[in-house]
Amino acid sequence: MSAFDVAALRRDFPILARQVHGRPLIYLDNAATSQKPQVVLQALQHYYTQQNANVHRGVHRLSEEATTAYEEARHAVARFLGLKESRGVVFVRGATEGINLVASSWGGANLKAGDEIVLTTMEHHANIVPWQVVAERTGAKVVVVPINAQGEVDLAVFQSKLTPRTKLVAVAHASNALGTINPVGEMIRLARSVGAKVLIDGCQSAAHFAIDIPALDPDFYVFSGHKTFGPTGIGVLWGRPELLDAMPPYQFGGDMIRRVDFAGTTYREAPERFEAGTPDISGAIALAVALDYLKPILVSPAAQAHEQLLLKTATERLKAIKGLRVIGEAKHKVAVLSFVMEGSHPHDLGTLLDADGIAIRTGHHCCMPLMKFLDLPGTARASFSFFNTLEEVDQLAKSLERIRKMVA
Ligand code: ALA
Repeated sequence: MSAFDVAALRRDFPILARQVHGRPLIYLDNAATSQKPQVVLQALQHYYTQQNANVHRGVHRLSEEATTAYEEARHAVARFLGLKESRGVVFVRGATEGINLVASSWGGANLKAGDEIVLTTMEHHANIVPWQVVAERTGAKVVVVPINAQGEVDLAVFQSKLTPRTKLVAVAHASNALGTINPVGEMIRLARSVGAKVLIDGCQSAAHFAIDIPALDPDFYVFSGHKTFGPTGIGVLWGRPELLDAMPPYQFGGDMIRRVDFAGTTYREAPERFEAGTPDISGAIALAVALDYLKPILVSPAAQAHEQLLLKTATERLKAIKGLRVIGEAKHKVAVLSFVMEGSHPHDLGTLLDADGIAIRTGHHCCMPLMKFLDLPGTARASFSFFNTLEEVDQLAKSLERIRKMVA
């Protein structure tokens, strides 16, 4: 794979050089959080050693530099999403806050008794609970689209759940527990034909393939910085500017107001309308660096092929282990591989793999309704990134083969 030099990319990530329990770290928990390349760490260091100041508030040099860097970060996010203008880009704590913001603000203002919110069985709790809560508040109803045995949404089933009562569809671009890539372009088109708005949870897509908002045409798109090689505590809500401007603010304080008077207060337009208080300035700046680092990888066919090869090889190797069952075999998947092993609880698998230096996630993956549908207490999940190698896949398979012999 000459066009894609994994070894060189690995050197960008200092943490990959460390050992765990005396073994080289094999980090296969990228769906939970990604590791950070050196350029992101340097951006944080540079900001705090050279530019630290509050934004939008000072006339002094540092504040001007910090403000410029923060607003340039917004442009970088827009570029990452294929957008020409950055006005719809709102910095939030993460995808969870983005969804809560839309549910509370847009949902609170627009939903009423009898309206329907359409979700799928595979949604993360963060894309279920905020809708349940706003449904309780407004009298709207949550409607769930079931998935098939492979872990896919059937478009005909999805369409059958859409009615003139559907006001919002909220769906993961890719499932954190199954890896399934949902046909969100088609789903958006179908939802729009009944007049519904659509929110896409991009947490598990943004680190794996290029997102083109103008081509997809959703109403809202969210993703987390820490899963896209940026820091924790920063994320993005993109919304159509005209929708954002019509939504009531979600939090109140400095920077989001136009004028405050004890007789009444007026608010700014998006994005400031939703960024009350001092934002995560260093987080936004470092996220921009992470996205600029990531984008060339996402648009590289060689990198895409590498990740898919990791997934294919891992799937084949693990399926060959007696008593091991892969959960989620959708045709289109990001490099996320869930599995269960007969005779071994997923948590035990996680602990035993950790002893070999292999980090995976185990449990319900914040998808309890999906686990109920699968009739499983949880799964073990290996989630890959472009920096993982076929040697690491081999190590994972060998460790699992050894564990299987122990428990069989
Ligand atoms: N939602 C993240 C995961 O799937 C934390 O692990």
